[in-house]
Amino acid sequence: MRLYIIFSFLLFAVICSSCVDASRVKFGRLCSRPSNSNIKRGCDRKYGCGHYGASRGKQKHLGLDILCADGAIVYAPFDVKLNGISRPYSKNNAINNGINLSGQGLCFKMFYVKPDRYTGTLKKGQRIGRMLSMQSVYPGIPSHVHVQMCDRSDPTKYF
Ligand SMILES: *[C@@H]1O[C@H](CO)[C@@H](O)[C@H](O)[C@H]1NC(C)=O
Repeated sequence: MRLYIIFSFLLFAVICSSCVDASRVKFGRLCSRPSNSNIKRGCDRKYGCGHYGASRGKQKHLGLDILCADGAIVYAPFDVKLNGISRPYSKNNAINNGINLSGQGLCFKMFYVKPDRYTGTLKKGQRIGRMLSMQSVYPGIPSHVHVQMCDRSDPTKYF
């Protein structure tokens, strides 16, 4: 009987920690192309690396880049709320668009995407919008969406 009570308590503790621990959240598929889901951008000579903390001159890369072909459809990685526009650059160009999203206890931004709308909610897998024409701005780069947490923490553990 005592063992049973201890076991139930442990089971409950384990189940509960997984419901509140945001580090267990995983992003579902973000992009329709390439065909494999959520491929992290590696490094290239011309533009650098896609991982969090990669060098950007004197700055650090504050997001994680996930491959996404120009014009591909971008999906909600889980049920999300749309929190309005969030742009990567202060100077405008063809890919200067993006959106602030929240869900699963996380707040994050996705850059280089043209959202269909900027408010409301979406279910996992529903369309957020389209990947913009990154090749027109950075010819030869592996086109990608940039995922950045609102608190600037490392998003890699969610992928
Ligand atoms: C994103 O939207 C949330 C909710 O409105 C807001 O609290 C947060 O400050 C925004 N974050 C950034 C970095 O824009």
